Amino acid sequence: MRTSRPPRRPRTSLRTRLAALLTGVSVAGALLAGATAAHAADAPLRDLADAKDKVIGTAVTGSRLTGTYGEIAGTEFNGLTPGNAMKWGTVEPVRGSYDWAEADRIVEFAEAHGQQVRGHTLVWHSQNPSWLTNGSWTAAELGQVLDDHIATEVGRYEGRLATWDVVNEPFDEDGTYRRTLWYDTLGQDYIARALTAARAADPAAELYINDYNVEGVNAKSTALYDLVRSLKERGVPIDGVGLQAHLILGQVPASLQQNIQRFADLGVDVAITELDIRMQLPATPAKLAQQADEYEAVVAACVAVSRCTGVTVWGFTDSDSWIPDVFEGYGAATPYDEDYAPKPAYGAIATALGGTTTPPPTDACTAAYTVTGQWNTGFTGQVRIACSGAALSSWKVSWTYGAGQRITQSWNAGCTQTGTQVTCSNAAYNGSVPDGGAVTFGFNASWSGSNPVPTVTLA
Ligand code: XIL
Repeated sequence: MRTSRPPRRPRTSLRTRLAALLTGVSVAGALLAGATAAHAADAPLRDLADAKDKVIGTAVTGSRLTGTYGEIAGTEFNGLTPGNAMKWGTVEPVRGSYDWAEADRIVEFAEAHGQQVRGHTLVWHSQNPSWLTNGSWTAAELGQVLDDHIATEVGRYEGRLATWDVVNEPFDEDGTYRRTLWYDTLGQDYIARALTAARAADPAAELYINDYNVEGVNAKSTALYDLVRSLKERGVPIDGVGLQAHLILGQVPASLQQNIQRFADLGVDVAITELDIRMQLPATPAKLAQQADEYEAVVAACVAVSRCTGVTVWGFTDSDSWIPDVFEGYGAATPYDEDYAPKPAYGAIATALGGTTTPPPTDACTAAYTVTGQWNTGFTGQVRIACSGAALSSWKVSWTYGAGQRITQSWNAGCTQTGTQVTCSNAAYNGSVPDGGAVTFGFNASWSGSNPVPTVTLA
């Protein structure tokens, strides 16, 4: 951790979080408890991480930061990374014409929730605008384009972001430089140039090089190690390395902690920046249990090294994961399932951060209420009834709305509302919930002022 420049903003002051709780539409803790009561860690992950001075972060999609997605992002994590919102192709699709809407939204959300933001990413070979990739550039021109991009983007958020992934994925698997527009036009010093420009644009941000398949000790991570050593020798600003950690079930490198330690010994911080652990679908209880052990091992390796600043998951829910789109037949890679129910991996992260979890009951049926989407005046919600060690042949779920919400429509259940009291009963075709199974119903409702999640009762 650098001592020569201003210290990082304090991570999460209670005051900030309380303010967010009181002013936000998404009132925090209680909501999550309503949504996920039976499975939740006994303390939110972010509180456990704060106590260890670590980041527990998640990549997010800006447009989804409402409802239950927003509640979990805001209450469980003390760091956010925009999954796509700060990439070149998103912020400057047309040369000189910027779109900061999603990036701003994420930074504002983070500030309202006392979270730090990891900027991602400034120089990469992927997700660039076509005017850039299809242009023909002299070295002088491209160097100027790079400098300007970094000055503009880093400058926009100066003082507000904790960290930047300045350079993303510079190496090939054998440890040679990846042949990209940057490397081919500017040579390997594009990396030093980008870091120098970023430091000038925001002297307080921690500057990282980020890559994948560099989690264990191997040719690629050794190339990164050698690069960082040489940058430091030359006085180029470099504060940390990001190990993406897009891992495959059963393939967590045994040398992960040793690798983190060797970078730390070089005098830079290390962050696990994009953790997910994918499995071949379908997910089974055995695979999810193994995944939990592996999540625990990764987080524990970071906790064990003081210069490892923390772990960011690449999407916290399987409904917001890049894996199924990119790795055919694989999925279930994140700590929450598609309905926002915490998976065993969630409890494992809590354990690695020194917390405890109350396991889901093994002989019960439970109902979990989530807000899946929310707009000015309305929202969509869902209730999932799941059984483990028990079964149902019919069901009735009821709750009390405390803030004037009114159901306008429901599906897969018959719902009635009298005053503040809502009761929903199974439809003709979905009364049966087998042991190990689940049924979901949905509804639309109106709200104004606030939309707290109620406690639901299953009868
Ligand atoms: C991924 C996003 O999650 C996807 O939504 C997008 O379609 C492609 O990029 N390494 C990185 C991330 O550094 O930026 C990538 O994110 C995943 C791999």
